[in-house]
Amino acid sequence: MNHLTAPSILAADFANLQRDIELLNNSEADWIHVDIMDGLFVPNISFGFPVVEAVHKYATKPLDVHLMITDPDRYIKAFADAGAASITVHIEATTHLHRTLQAIKELGCRAGVALNPHTPVALLEDIIADLDLVLIMSVNPGFGGQKFINNTYKKVEDIKDLSSAHNPGLFIEVDGGVNLQNAPQLVATGANVLVAGNFVFSSDDPRQTIARLKHG
Ligand code: DX5
Ligand code: ZN
Repeated sequence: MNHLTAPSILAADFANLQRDIELLNNSEADWIHVDIMDGLFVPNISFGFPVVEAVHKYATKPLDVHLMITDPDRYIKAFADAGAASITVHIEATTHLHRTLQAIKELGCRAGVALNPHTPVALLEDIIADLDLVLIMSVNPGFGGQKFINNTYKKVEDIKDLSSAHNPGLFIEVDGGVNLQNAPQLVATGANVLVAGNFVFSSDDPRQTIARLKHG
């Protein structure tokens, strides 16, 4: 499968959000990555339901919602109702991961789990078959524009091995500091969804940058 691109609207211009959503609609972006931060699980607050609903109203691409929040079970239904196509929770923020994933699927969404840079892929061995998506954090979550952590390649390899053995259709997503320098190696190693925020929205031509991430 060709890899997908999921630009992160955390790096969009919030005063011109409709314009930036339309830019993504008219690009080769496959999904729109939506970062939710609660100021507790991560040291930053992003935005909540009214903004996700507004994005959903204008977006023609699926919303890939990344919950960087403590005890995400409390809000899964609200994000599904707000228009999420996939919902990813952090393994570090979830006590009963299996139950949480079933709840996400019952709401008709793709179920994902995210791993912080220090969290080993081995923790997924007994849940791998129940996952639609794994999100490997390649920076510490909480902020856009950070530097890519090189240990990510090894983690993508590890999850690719697990996926080949137990869940060949798994989406393997990498999030944080992705650019045209690391994208080819990430894809060669097994990543099939690339999230990019600042690299897309800070570029002179975001649509072209998305196309290059997709094909380059
Ligand atoms: C970080 C977020 C990322 C962020 C990526 O906590 O999960 O999705 O938006 O932004 P860049 O690509 O700028 O690192
Ligand atoms: Zn994210």
